[in-house]
Amino acid sequence: MPDLGNIRKPVKDEMSRFEAYFGNCMQSRIPLLKIILNYILRRKGKQMRPLLVFLTAKLNGEISEPTYVAATLIELLHTASLVHDDVVDDANERRGALSINALWNSKIAVLVGDFMLSKGLLISIEKNSTDMLEIVSEAVKAMSEGELLQLQKARKLNIREDDYIRIITCKTAALISACTACGARSVTANPDTIQVMKDFGEAIGIAFQIRDDILDYNGNGLTGKISGNDIKEKKITLPLIHSLEKVSLTRKRHILGIVGSRKKSKSDIAEVIRFVTENGGLEYASMRMNQYLDKALAILDTYADSDVKNSLKEFAYYTVSRDK
Ligand code: IPE
Ligand code: IPE
Ligand code: MG
Ligand code: MG
Repeated sequence: MPDLGNIRKPVKDEMSRFEAYFGNCMQSRIPLLKIILNYILRRKGKQMRPLLVFLTAKLNGEISEPTYVAATLIELLHTASLVHDDVVDDANERRGALSINALWNSKIAVLVGDFMLSKGLLISIEKNSTDMLEIVSEAVKAMSEGELLQLQKARKLNIREDDYIRIITCKTAALISACTACGARSVTANPDTIQVMKDFGEAIGIAFQIRDDILDYNGNGLTGKISGNDIKEKKITLPLIHSLEKVSLTRKRHILGIVGSRKKSKSDIAEVIRFVTENGGLEYASMRMNQYLDKALAILDTYADSDVKNSLKEFAYYTVSRDK
């Protein structure tokens, strides 16, 4: 499997400088906030988004100050969205530790998320990066819309594959395509280049979320999140959508009955997982994920060979094969 350490090589120094930059933004004089921000900083995630910002910037030009602003802004908004997402999803684990809502409570988690969001906005204003702010604000708007559409579908249990793709394009791919668009924007003003990079990021983002949804079914304990949480939260994702299309109405009603019930036992969740496994839901989702991978790779292939292009290629492969 591709390794993030190797992928990072062409922008290794930039990533260390970014970390210092990011750490500086996660400061406050309010004692409680200080404790929580430190807790978050100590359990940093994979930092795939800043990595993508630097790699796409370097693919298209010379990394400079605006590239750092974009990477920081995006990682702040991403982290805020995870803290909020765990409240929405009632999830108790994140990055292999207790989530903020589990360790403190939901009120505190909402406010800490808001703090990080506003920090991100302030940095882009301070640094006069309104172009980036525009790209990223569009993404944040799409994320909220995607999460709300997902909640609406969870209440009605009537989601189809096209709804699913729309949801994940908004809630996940929008921010990942903002990474690649901002990376490009930080080194060029050419609208065609920015659009091509945006399309690249969108394909990667959709594949990334399909992988995340597959891992919720067959994670091997490495994700740092509890698997089966999507079923618990009535989130019907691609593996289940496809499996439901293949069976009789009676069987479909039975499975939807389990997914839609408020209280689910361990064996209820296990039954849904078995149903999806037996009906080829995971293979189908992988096949669809690989179509988006191919789309991303085809875009990359319009670029001349280089270290950075190679890293982005590996990044795409990593997205679809990752275990965490
Ligand atoms: C998690 O994103 C949220 C999704 C879009 C599935 P990551 O898997 O990139 O989270 P961290 O930052 O590495 O924890
Ligand atoms: C991604 O969806 C949510 C965000 C865009 C923050 P999930 O709810 O599946 O993400 P995880 O699995 O909690 O990381
Ligand atoms: Mg979640
Ligand atoms: Mg998930």
